[in-house]
Amino acid sequence: MFIKSFYSDRRKALVKEMKTGLILLPGNEDSPMNYRANTYHFRQDSSFLYFFGADRPGLAGIIDIDENRHMLFGDDDDLSDIIWMGTRHSISELGDMAGVDRTHSIAELEKIIRQGRDKGRKIHFLPPYRAERMMKLEALLDIHHSGIMKQVSVELIKAVAKLRSVKSKDEIAEIEKAVDIAEKMHTTAMKMAQPGIYEREIAGRIEGISLSHGNPVSFPVILSIDGQTLHNHYHGNLLKPGRIMVTDAGSETDLHYASDITRSVPVGGKFGEEQKDIYNIVLKSLEKSVMSIKPGIPYRDIHLKAASVIAGGLKELGIMKGNIDEAVTDGAHALFFPHGLGHMLGLDVHDMEDLGEDFVGYDDEIKRSDQFGLAFLRLGKRLQENFVLTVEPGIYFIPALIDKWKSDKVLTEYINYDKLEAYRNFGGIRIEDDVLVTATGSRVLGPRIPKTVEDIEETMSLP
Ligand code: GLY
Ligand code: MN
Ligand code: MN
Repeated sequence: MFIKSFYSDRRKALVKEMKTGLILLPGNEDSPMNYRANTYHFRQDSSFLYFFGADRPGLAGIIDIDENRHMLFGDDDDLSDIIWMGTRHSISELGDMAGVDRTHSIAELEKIIRQGRDKGRKIHFLPPYRAERMMKLEALLDIHHSGIMKQVSVELIKAVAKLRSVKSKDEIAEIEKAVDIAEKMHTTAMKMAQPGIYEREIAGRIEGISLSHGNPVSFPVILSIDGQTLHNHYHGNLLKPGRIMVTDAGSETDLHYASDITRSVPVGGKFGEEQKDIYNIVLKSLEKSVMSIKPGIPYRDIHLKAASVIAGGLKELGIMKGNIDEAVTDGAHALFFPHGLGHMLGLDVHDMEDLGEDFVGYDDEIKRSDQFGLAFLRLGKRLQENFVLTVEPGIYFIPALIDKWKSDKVLTEYINYDKLEAYRNFGGIRIEDDVLVTATGSRVLGPRIPKTVEDIEETMSLP
């Protein structure tokens, strides 16, 4: 855990953002995989971690806004728990480490919530994303689970998103540690990307690197020579010359801060000319985006700038045509770049996505577009100093999408469908870095992870 004042200061800041009532922040529970005692790897809820730090199942926190009282709930281990799991911190030790006023048993949680409800006090809670949480809320609040999402506290969501979006220097240092691990994962993947090896051998190795540094990956590894499938978790292909291997993978630190890095490399270690052309467009798009990031600029504008670089590059290759500004305004680039430029990064790889993407990435000024492509941008609002976000442009040739647009004659003024045929089996390329918004611009977090054609080819030539 961080030092206790971090947690008490965060809770104090949260109280300042709220008007009245009780804030209920349940932690996560163990979740069975295939029978009760065989559970998924435990992952604590990120907002609970942010405000209380304690990293084990069976806990909950309450913050009484009106009395500024902070309470941690949980049951101490009994002898049987100690036999199976060893000696762990007591609840009062965990409470002390988080700087709370009082600790209580879980039975007390129900009482305090009931008393609050009896007095007509507002109970604020965040949107649940697990069935166990839904059922816990149903029991505590006497709201049928079908009605829970309608009663989440928008005031609390906005307050939590506001606080968690701006990272402290210690949080940034944690994210950089996670990028350090990602660097080892990605350079290993690059060196292994030789013909005759299965994707699963590489995916397994890099997942093991994350585990060997103490924690699982921050999201299931995406690694494929079919990089045109954006989130490809199938790892059964044999690597073949002529394909690009896309690896999108990151790790978590002990405190659960995430990294999220993508690299795209040629199987065998040498880019072909056509691959180099497409790769360098994506790289230019990434570099221009990173250079344009600064406080006050809407990330939607950076996304559109990245899209312009992609459309301009594809025009030079004859795949797109016409006026590039108009092509981007009309969304023609989305045939090749159908996702958003990036998202917030922190305790979650898509930070705070459980709170609702629009509360995190949009605001009263900048609303989400419904245009294909731009609609998938998770972060559109103006950037602030100490936001951490991903920048992840890509170019993909997705045969099913190409065929649909071609047969529907979509945006034929900007797309040279005949020329495009030569690329339909190209695959895809994405490059992703984790970026801090600084006072005057931006900084790519972590060590240099090979990114230029020359750096990648050199790294892949090393043992
Ligand atoms: N790792 C998934 C993403 O880049 O958003
Ligand atoms: Mn990623
Ligand atoms: Mn990402």
